Amino acid sequence: MAAIHIPVLLRETLQTLDLGPGLTVVDGTVGGGGHSRKILEQIQPDGMLIGLDRDPLMLSHAALVLTGERSRLCHASYRDLPKVLRELNIAAVDRIVVDLGLSSDQLADRDRGFGFSTSGPLDMRFDVTSGEPASELLARASSEVLGDIFHQYGEERFSRAIAEQIVRQRRGSPITTVPELLAAIDAALPHSIKREARKEPATRVFQALRIAVNRELKHLEEALHDSLFDALRPGGRLAVITFHSLEDRLVKHAFRDESRWQCLHKKPISPSPQEIRINPRSRSAKLRVAIKLPIAASASPK
Ligand SMILES: C[S@@+](CC[C@H](N)C(=O)[O-])C[C@H]1O[C@@H](n2cnc3c(N)ncnc32)[C@H](O)[C@@H]1O
Repeated sequence: MAAIHIPVLLRETLQTLDLGPGLTVVDGTVGGGGHSRKILEQIQPDGMLIGLDRDPLMLSHAALVLTGERSRLCHASYRDLPKVLRELNIAAVDRIVVDLGLSSDQLADRDRGFGFSTSGPLDMRFDVTSGEPASELLARASSEVLGDIFHQYGEERFSRAIAEQIVRQRRGSPITTVPELLAAIDAALPHSIKREARKEPATRVFQALRIAVNRELKHLEEALHDSLFDALRPGGRLAVITFHSLEDRLVKHAFRDESRWQCLHKKPISPSPQEIRINPRSRSAKLRVAIKLPIAASASPK
């Protein structure tokens, strides 16, 4: 089945990547192939698109739209891009795009536990073939560790109370499903918080758990510092789409290094009001694009 995810900042990403025939492009978070499909069109007839994803299920969605011999799909984190390129016998690439977070398909999947409107098991791993599901983290982590996760990755103001409630609740029975976690969040919040306002702490706790389970910020930080930089040829472009301030801060900080990157814009690009109207999930997106330095004479940015 084709993916339901609508690619975010698509026009802006294609424009700033400055694509053309013959380029080798990496989509580090290929998802359902929304960005990749359009990129592939613009690098034809002899360009090459390499799509990576940690989620094998998303790769099977992408395989439906990225057919033909000008594309390759790999089950890997973008953090491991240099290894992937070595296996493909590619020295360096011309463009890289990374569209962070999760896709609408993952959010809607009832067996993954990403969304709080589902009722399934609390897994939250992008890659279900490795690592620890969210339910195991909730079963083993101390109240302090859980509180730190909700505070740091979710900026949740009731982080301690929610963590303590989880620890109390799991003494009775383990928290393994979305409704059980929602019940713990609900029980921890003061009565003065109106019922409708409870959606917000749940959003923040779910985001925080997902970031922790997948070590998302670690992958991003390491990739910005080493792997994405190393994999790009001088003069090549890196575009990163982020969805919250923790991610955006890392990208902004990395691109500030003027010995390595030339930033294309002072401020990040945000979705237009029209895009936000059509796709409300795009509202927090920010796109930053930079050129890898030094720009070799044969590889000028334009
Ligand atoms: C927002 S979606 C990408 C959507 C895609 N750009 C599209 O238009 O269809 C993010 C994707 O990144 C994947 N992902 C998250 N962290 C990753 C990582 N470190 N390496 C590779 N893929 C990752 C997720 O599994 C998800 O499929």
